[in-house]
Amino acid sequence: ALPVLRDVADLRRTVADWRTQGLRVGLVPTMGALHAGHLSLVRTALERADRVIATIFVNPTQFGPGEDFSTYPRQEAEDAARLAEVGCRAVYAPDAESMYPAGFATRVTVEGVSKGLCGDHRPGHFEGVATVVTKLLLRALPDMAVFGEKDYQQLQVIRRLVTDLDIPVEIVGGATVRAEDGLALSSRNAYLTEAERTIAPALFRVLSETAATLATGAPAAPQLADARARLTAAGFAIVEYLDLRDPETLAPLPALPSTGVGRLLAAVRLGSTRLIDNVPVIRS
Ligand code: PAJ
Repeated sequence: ALPVLRDVADLRRTVADWRTQGLRVGLVPTMGALHAGHLSLVRTALERADRVIATIFVNPTQFGPGEDFSTYPRQEAEDAARLAEVGCRAVYAPDAESMYPAGFATRVTVEGVSKGLCGDHRPGHFEGVATVVTKLLLRALPDMAVFGEKDYQQLQVIRRLVTDLDIPVEIVGGATVRAEDGLALSSRNAYLTEAERTIAPALFRVLSETAATLATGAPAAPQLADARARLTAAGFAIVEYLDLRDPETLAPLPALPSTGVGRLLAAVRLGSTRLIDNVPVIRS
């Protein structure tokens, strides 16, 4: 069975052993409840590294007061079995006391790219993510780490902090894995009722169709307004945001720049579940 490491000393020894053997080490941070999207990140890591470690830690500091920290699905044994099947060689699953011992007082705040989009709707979320990801990277010190494009703003926040804090780890983005009907896989999809599950794919559909129109260089505002209305009509009670942004800085774009690429990002609510998704916009 896959070794599940609890102590940072065991993690560091494992990584150090591999590196002395000349092996390249990849890290795949997760909160568990693994699905095919997470597993694809392990495969992506294995294309660029000889050994891959996944981390499983439901990070309390990135959940807001009304959010699902206590009910977030926890299934470590199944997760470890799935990870072993795709070639992962160890799991690091620390407990919260080791991550945040008494006296813990440091927070990593990434300005700019953390603002707007999910940053506006989940106060403190990216500070929690940035802090735990910094700790995970510094604890493991892998050669590279993989994060999914599904959480696109998170990926850009992590790229920014790794650059700014001189963390010597290469950050690689993994493409979003979707269900056959287009819905991006997410651990939170398990919260959807049957009726909600039939509405959910409309998010990716509207994003894809809007991206195709924006790809021609059309002014964004009317297209975005139309897309928001279509999401509401499809049954999403609240459209938190749907916006065209620069793919790196996430600054708002009035239209797709003539040479460039953009990213179209959205967050909606479906009953009590919050869904996010995003697609590239490439000049056609
Ligand atoms: P979690 O939601 O468990 O996601 C772990 C990783 O899987 C993230 O990099 C996320 O972007 C990626 N992922 C999720 N769904 C995906 C999909 N359908 N296709 C491809 N990749 C997908 O994101 C977190 O955990 C946490 O914030 C973490 C980075 C671990 C810090 O606590």
